[in-house]
Amino acid sequence: MEVMKAANEHEAAGNHVLHLEVGEPGAGAPQAVLDAAHAALDSSALGYTEALGLPELRRAISAHYLKNYQRDVAMERIVVTTGSSGGFMLALLAAFDSGQRIGIGVPYYPAYRNMMIALGLEVVTIETGPESRFQPTPELLERAGHLDGLLICSPANPTGTMLRGSEFDAVVQYCDRHGIRVLSDEIYHGITYGEAAETALRYSANAVVLNGFSKFFCMTGWRLGWMVVPDELSGAVERLAQNLYISAPNISQRAAIAAFECEDELNANVAVYAENRRILLEELPKAGLKDLAPADGAFYIYASVSHLTNDSSDFCRKLLKETGVAITPGIDFDAERGNAYVRISFAGKTVETKETASRLKSWLA
Ligand SMILES: Cc1ncc(COP(=O)(O)O)c(C=O)c1O
Repeated sequence: MEVMKAANEHEAAGNHVLHLEVGEPGAGAPQAVLDAAHAALDSSALGYTEALGLPELRRAISAHYLKNYQRDVAMERIVVTTGSSGGFMLALLAAFDSGQRIGIGVPYYPAYRNMMIALGLEVVTIETGPESRFQPTPELLERAGHLDGLLICSPANPTGTMLRGSEFDAVVQYCDRHGIRVLSDEIYHGITYGEAAETALRYSANAVVLNGFSKFFCMTGWRLGWMVVPDELSGAVERLAQNLYISAPNISQRAAIAAFECEDELNANVAVYAENRRILLEELPKAGLKDLAPADGAFYIYASVSHLTNDSSDFCRKLLKETGVAITPGIDFDAERGNAYVRISFAGKTVETKETASRLKSWLA
């Protein structure tokens, strides 16, 4: 957000800025979603909904699991939330007591840690690196000491890496054996460049899944997400939702029902990310950025800049000032090693991605 502010100021001063700092899709919601929102405005008083969400939307999400993951997820286990961010608050509150120890793999999406601290949970950081594709492993968990919970994200932000089949299974099985509740952030599902992402529901009935409409569905500002919760947590989650926010936005819920019918349009957006990714993976090494995390999914490349700087914030500031390219310093995602990394988002237009590659190449030359 600080980088975005600096980038906007640089732009307001008359400079042309290429925004590769943002973590949101360049495209807006699909047309059928917009049409459904207009229809909802015309036909409904848009009052509160049930705290768990509109039954029609929960049914559509249940059908999404059957179609895309071949999993039968009863709609009673599905909770509609105010973005996956809202889901995280509910999940952390329902599943843990203050003082409990929750593991997160580093680097991580910074809000996880901030939410946990705000709720009085103890954050246990688990350093991951290229040898485990920046994802936790049972060995790393073993070294972390006692854990009550583990938050995983696949595909991940900032690295884009995925926990694949047997690796995912091993981590979740380890957690089940040790009574560690898994929270699985699946917000980047649908945006992958090889194998499709698996859901933690495949490996454990105890996992809490967090997902939403912000990334694949291109509905960031509609503030809508969902969780899949084990039966024993659903009562607590329902009461928390009733008390904390009553219901997720009614209009967004009505519109989102249509989102599941828009796969062609949404997959066309993913094809744009795939082309942007291809360009960057080809061009960044020519600019000397050769050490890149495997960008399995999401729309980020996490690149080492250790040969160029020991201060990634300063590096990003200079890059913005001298070339107009805005990217995010790794220090946001990893307090210890992040000065050696930057995150480059490729969720924008292909023409901008090409221009970025060309500016980076001449700047770093
Ligand atoms: C990994 C990850 N999880 C969760 C979120 C929150 O998304 P939302 O609250 O819009 O669903 C983000 C947003 O960038 C993210 O990158």
